[in-house]
Amino acid sequence: MDRRETVIVLDFGGQYNQLVARRVRECHVYCEIYSYKTDIARIKAMAPKGIILTGGPNSCYEEGAPTYSKELFELGIPVLGLCYGAQLMQHILGGRVERADKREYGKTEITVDPSCELFAGVAQKTTCWMSHFDYISRLAEGFVSVAHSADCPVAACENSARKLYGIQFHPEVLHTPEGTKMLYNFVRNVCGCAGDWKMDSFVEQSILAIRQKVGDGKVLCALSGGVDSSVAAVLLSKAVGDQLTCVFVDHGLLRKNEGDEVEAVFGPSGNYDLHFIRVNAQQRFYSKLAGVTEPERKRKIIGEEFIRVFEEEAKKIGAVDFLVQGTIYPDVVESGLGGESAVIKSHHNVGGLPDYVDFKEIIEPLRDLFKDEVRKAGLELGLPEYLVFRQPFPGPGLGIRIIGEVTEEKVRIVQDADFIYREEIAKAGLDKEISQYFAALTNMRSVGVMGDERTYDYAVALRAVKTIDFMTAESAEIPYEVLNRVMNRIINEVRGVNRVLYDLTSKPPGTIEFE
Ligand code: XMP
Repeated sequence: MDRRETVIVLDFGGQYNQLVARRVRECHVYCEIYSYKTDIARIKAMAPKGIILTGGPNSCYEEGAPTYSKELFELGIPVLGLCYGAQLMQHILGGRVERADKREYGKTEITVDPSCELFAGVAQKTTCWMSHFDYISRLAEGFVSVAHSADCPVAACENSARKLYGIQFHPEVLHTPEGTKMLYNFVRNVCGCAGDWKMDSFVEQSILAIRQKVGDGKVLCALSGGVDSSVAAVLLSKAVGDQLTCVFVDHGLLRKNEGDEVEAVFGPSGNYDLHFIRVNAQQRFYSKLAGVTEPERKRKIIGEEFIRVFEEEAKKIGAVDFLVQGTIYPDVVESGLGGESAVIKSHHNVGGLPDYVDFKEIIEPLRDLFKDEVRKAGLELGLPEYLVFRQPFPGPGLGIRIIGEVTEEKVRIVQDADFIYREEIAKAGLDKEISQYFAALTNMRSVGVMGDERTYDYAVALRAVKTIDFMTAESAEIPYEVLNRVMNRIINEVRGVNRVLYDLTSKPPGTIEFE
């Protein structure tokens, strides 16, 4: 097999590092991220077409700051340093980096030298995103400045003979509108990559790599029916066929019909050649949850019970060599597991998987991908669209959308109401615009009148939010007539509900889920 063209991103701890890789992949060039601690021999062995050094929170002249061997710049491979990476390159090659009087932060206008290859097709005055305390006060021999801002004499520099480039700002973020063009110029023109990598290449390459790793070993996958674990399962199934067993725990807190939908895709009548085990553990979960009202306690019970059930199934299967997890890049960053960057928040998943199940190694084939890239891979693998474009659904499921005690009856109410709500939102063509929407069951009962009778029933709350990162969110403006239709249908079709409320709260102060 031909060696695939690869650009390597060396991670010095910046928050945007995965974005750099993503932008490179958007230029149809395959890209992998490695820690700055990676040995140079390993880098050489990979024979990359180019190397990008990322930003990072340190000052390169401080003792103990992340650094790299000078040899990296002598390999004849083009190198592009970004922010810290640019400063470090200068520091190592004999330039000077100092603390600036004033931090340069935010959108900044720069003037670029159009003769520099990085700026081909870029406007001479363009906007970029700056975020630095230090600046390059003297360039190393052989370098010239090719961009400057009002406060920064070297916003970019080059030694074109040696194909070494530095950019003080962040071309990878959207606040640098022409940034992708600059990265494109680097990988395609300076490094000479052909740009023939696509998501199907990711799929193909992953399948080959998985096969090599797994050999004839046994693989186990916890399938939730969510996008990530579904894509991971299909990828594994394509790679190792019936060596894979997927365990799907139906905890009775799924959306209406969801268990059957998952089974239809992955079960015996589905399209994949894998052992699929559906564990109908509904009653087990309901009885553990009986009488419990405190949200954190509910989450813990669901998480723990999930692990118990999974573990029991794993034991039945016997010694498993590999466990598959659908971890994706944002999970890695948020839980602080990713490379060198700082912890943002710890990810709250269904409680993790048991560490004492008998397996040798974990396979995380989607670890480098963003959600939309995972979706592309899912489509590439032939997963149905309704599964691929599913909105996020929390591990504890409806357990945290039923305020107070969870009962089978309440699960039925919230499932039915949610089903109607989703159906009407889709009919109104709003499903692509709203990031997440669902019905929840409040713990409130109130008096109503239906026909000539007094009712004393539950109130359903409708939630719909728009968000980019799910860390902050605004409630979505749904046309009144759509809300009205949903309300009418829920009251008429769902037994036990006599009131429908719309939640206007943004996050913060609210959260997206109710518990
Ligand atoms: P909150 O409620 O924290 O939700 O504003 C933010 C996003 O995370 C999802 N969420 C979870 N996902 N396990 C998950 O896998 C959980 O325990 C969990 N709790 C919330 C939520 O649906 C929203 O998309």
